[in-house]
Amino acid sequence: MSESFFKWDPVRLTTHVDAMDNEHKKLIDIMNKLYERHEAKATKNELGAIIRELAAWTTTHFEHEEKFFDTLPYSQANVHKKIHKDLLERLKGHAAEFEKTGALTPAFFQFLKTWLTAHIMGIDTKYGMIAANKAG
Ligand SMILES: [Fe+2]
Ligand SMILES: [Fe+2]
Repeated sequence: MSESFFKWDPVRLTTHVDAMDNEHKKLIDIMNKLYERHEAKATKNELGAIIRELAAWTTTHFEHEEKFFDTLPYSQANVHKKIHKDLLERLKGHAAEFEKTGALTPAFFQFLKTWLTAHIMGIDTKYGMIAANKAG
């Protein structure tokens, strides 16, 4: 078994909010499943189903996350929500492209990687710091 394409990093990706970390891990699991089935040359139907699972779970996760950070004194809440909307739109754009071509491009996987590094690491960890301060 080769190494996973997307890795959970307990130091750099943690928000210090267990519920959100668990949701992020599930997101990474779906991304890895997509990558592995893509590498295994799975059918378009199978890959399409995983992409729909990813989009559905992303929608659910963003809703949970927004509900959570709305309980905090988090000044960037509206900016964060706008970024979620944009991410979801880009994900849907890639999904529509896949429906047309049946191909998952390196650009698509690059988009998923950037999402993890730039969004979870750079932005989600911010509400985590506020939540930790509130708790502490
Ligand atoms: Fe987020
Ligand atoms: Fe998140």
